[in-house]
Amino acid sequence: MKISVIGTGYVGLVTGTCLAETGNEVVCVDIDEEKVKRMRSGEVPIYEPHLDVLFERNIEAGRLTFTTSLKEGLDHGVIVFLALPTPEEEDGSADLKYVLGVSEEIGKLLKGYRVIVDKSTVPVGTSEKVKEAIGKHASHDFDVVSNPEFLREGYAVDDFLKPERIIIGSSSDRATELMGKLYKPFVRSGNPVIVMDEKSAELTKYAANAFLATKITFMNEIANFCEKVGADVDKVRIGIGTDSRIGKRFLFPGIGYGGSCFPKDVKALHKSGRDSGYEFKILQSVIDVNQRQKTILIPKILAHFQGDLKGKKIGVWGLAFKPETDDIREAPALYIIEELLALGAEITAFDPEAMENVQRKMGDRIAFADGMYQPLENADALVICTEWGVFRNPDFTKMKELLQDAVIFDGRNLYDTDEIRSEGFGYYSIGRGQ
Ligand code: UGA
Repeated sequence: MKISVIGTGYVGLVTGTCLAETGNEVVCVDIDEEKVKRMRSGEVPIYEPHLDVLFERNIEAGRLTFTTSLKEGLDHGVIVFLALPTPEEEDGSADLKYVLGVSEEIGKLLKGYRVIVDKSTVPVGTSEKVKEAIGKHASHDFDVVSNPEFLREGYAVDDFLKPERIIIGSSSDRATELMGKLYKPFVRSGNPVIVMDEKSAELTKYAANAFLATKITFMNEIANFCEKVGADVDKVRIGIGTDSRIGKRFLFPGIGYGGSCFPKDVKALHKSGRDSGYEFKILQSVIDVNQRQKTILIPKILAHFQGDLKGKKIGVWGLAFKPETDDIREAPALYIIEELLALGAEITAFDPEAMENVQRKMGDRIAFADGMYQPLENADALVICTEWGVFRNPDFTKMKELLQDAVIFDGRNLYDTDEIRSEGFGYYSIGRGQ
């Protein structure tokens, strides 16, 4: 099939590349000329495992091409995906200026029937607004479909190629049939394509992310309570996770959720509720608890150093909001670092992928290490913020030699508390006996 993708951010790139991989001819459109030039030469503008291999292969095969011309994109694809940014406005709502602006342009450029697909995470009712915006100028038939994505950063290619479900919000049989045909190769395993109305599809995306954020936040509160009463959250997690109604996944406590999705989507759903006269009390709590959780290690660090961090050298492992990404949006590490700096500490950090992004944001306010052991040299403590695989089984002897004071503040519960203490470390983690 001939497909176009408007917007080559994270979602657009993964969508375009994976659709080309199953034999479709995909044209990706972006207004950024420099970026288009780089992509044409095979450069992937984001870090996402496995994407580079697929990207190169499909460009070489001529199935994946790039342009700055929206007209070219619209002339090409019978299905046109909108993968445009929906930035967070100050009041927490999603800003639709890109989605609606491009929709108006699409209306002017339509030369034949097209299915326009909302791929971005957009508030309930957006597909109607998109329809209106296109309809202002359109002189041809078109349908608007909502098809939210459920891609996790770091696993996006796998999530796209082997989805647990495809959600299609559509009220047109013609569009539903075309979408079903497009996704057929991805659901051969029997996973469902679920068709529903547009509004329910839009809300499914928010409800899924808000539910997962709530699940994590609930466990963070249980972890905090465990510390008060001397219980071990790891045991509680395993205890409840074996109940299939609860499930084992997304029960890992830590220093809060971050990234470009959960924080933005929880706030946007909360705001949509208010706008519709409904107060999501649970979401307000999730937002507040998660904000507090991001710096939950700070009181422990302060208590360890008798309230004085002036001149203390602190090594930090992990800057990205989670492993397998260089994304630092809403990363708990940055909140912790800001507080530590404000308290007078000196920071040296290491992250396998995210250091350049942090350097761009923070400049030389902190030092960046060449390797994972360098931040430990003569440091007074190590703080772990992201659970990268390389931090899971480090050389403890070397760490003890390098650290001035062998103490670890672990925001991701990487180590067995008894084992690490028997290695001779002072060890503070989340929700497990301090
Ligand atoms: C999330 C969803 O998982 C995807 O399904 C969705 O498509 C995506 O948002 C989106 O809306 O685009 P992502 O933000 O990439 O994906 O990251 P997750 O792997 O879901 O992790 C989110 C945050 O939760 C991270 O900060 C992670 O550290 C935290 N987390 C996750 C926990 O603290 N505990 C857990 O048990 C699991």
